[in-house]
Amino acid sequence: MSNENPISAAHRLLEASIIHYRGEPVGTIAARDPNAPAENYEECFVRDFVPSALVFLLDGRYEIVRNFLHLVLNLRSQQPEEAGHVLAPGVMPASFKVIRHDDGSESLRADFGDRAIGRVAPVDSMMWWLILLKAYVNVSGDCALADKAEFQRGIRQIMELCLRDGWEVFPTLLVPDGACMIDRRMGIYGHPLEIQSLFFAALGAARQLITDTPEHFALRRRILDRMRALYNYVRIYYWLDLERLNEIHRFRTEELGYEGTVANALNIYPESIPSWVVEWLPDDGGYLVGNLGPGRIDFRFFALGNLLAVLFDLTTEEESEQLMNLFAARWDDLMGNMPVKICYPAMEGHEWLLLTGSDPKNAPWSYHNGGNWPALLWVFVGAALEAGHFDLAERAFLQARDRLAIECWPEYYDGRGGRLIGRRANHHQSWSATALILADRFLREPDRLRSLGFFTELSFHHHEHGQEEKR
Ligand code: GLC
Repeated sequence: MSNENPISAAHRLLEASIIHYRGEPVGTIAARDPNAPAENYEECFVRDFVPSALVFLLDGRYEIVRNFLHLVLNLRSQQPEEAGHVLAPGVMPASFKVIRHDDGSESLRADFGDRAIGRVAPVDSMMWWLILLKAYVNVSGDCALADKAEFQRGIRQIMELCLRDGWEVFPTLLVPDGACMIDRRMGIYGHPLEIQSLFFAALGAARQLITDTPEHFALRRRILDRMRALYNYVRIYYWLDLERLNEIHRFRTEELGYEGTVANALNIYPESIPSWVVEWLPDDGGYLVGNLGPGRIDFRFFALGNLLAVLFDLTTEEESEQLMNLFAARWDDLMGNMPVKICYPAMEGHEWLLLTGSDPKNAPWSYHNGGNWPALLWVFVGAALEAGHFDLAERAFLQARDRLAIECWPEYYDGRGGRLIGRRANHHQSWSATALILADRFLREPDRLRSLGFFTELSFHHHEHGQEEKR
């Protein structure tokens, strides 16, 4: 093992994690670790499969991605009916498993949060599915798949669900705790950034994929309107740099009035600014805050939401630059020994007790609560390259490369600097390996990153303040 090139070793793990259903490759398992602490690591998670799928797409292996997209779409027939309510048809499962029966037959069992630890809602699955479908169409050129009636219906149902009116007063999407990669209670209920970045990209994907027919006219209009509202809202309210921090520090409170007439619309109390952020934010740096609500800013830095915002063009060029300045200035905190820190800083003491419900797996500087996740490496490298920072992208990649392979692809690392292998981390975690493959590929062939079509079409930005849009 020690002499093997880490990228070849990563490919070997990827091959070994492919799962088949009725003879066809349909996905990859989360971890090939016989000692994994939880049994669901042998399932195929939608979010974990995304980097596997991107590797397959870049290698021209379209079949497995197509099978996966089909299968997840059809799995919705398994949505559980709970007493008193049914899931909306747009909801897609967090994961699925192939069950092999004694008579040699096979069946599928999906999890819609009805089996998952803590019963968390898999809101990100439907968004990743759309983003992946768009990447598949862009790379393979197979538009016919997305044009199929069942796919068009699926896209419509996801959009109907996400654009449905409820009690909401913001253009962001309201979700319960643990509705994304952080799928445990972590104080991320409400409007977590990761969901907003995914939502923006999912809207963009739907807009590209939904056919331009009269029956879709109204829906397409709503998608575009929501994209604009979301884009402007995130830019105004989530963005934090020194100038904005100063404004918040001097906010007047208890202001009443319509949007645009009051400075402190969410009624944020300056006293809620945590002391760490004041010294931590560099002069030339900035980031999108973790969450917002009435009287609430979650100042924690969440890597995935921020990096996806860059990849999906939810930040301006200047903001992307400032985000990379922050990474450069706070490298030890945000990357440490093993890229990438999932969130910073960790919650400790009373905050940990109240917001995680005393979760020992999410102890300070471990797992979701400030652990370091190699799976985020591809997103970092992608975002850094998009922002023109080859140096940072390469630095992160080189830092991870040898160690990940030698330590057998841990799921996460512990400690402020991510020096220790996570206490309950699996080994042979698929997305730790696929993230390294993608990082290597993007660094060598940045054009391939572009070919995946993560960015939002320029027409959106050009018509940002504009009139009727033409496709
Ligand atoms: C953990 C992670 C989640 C991931 C799953 C499978 O639950 O929090 O994001 O999808 O493991 O790897």
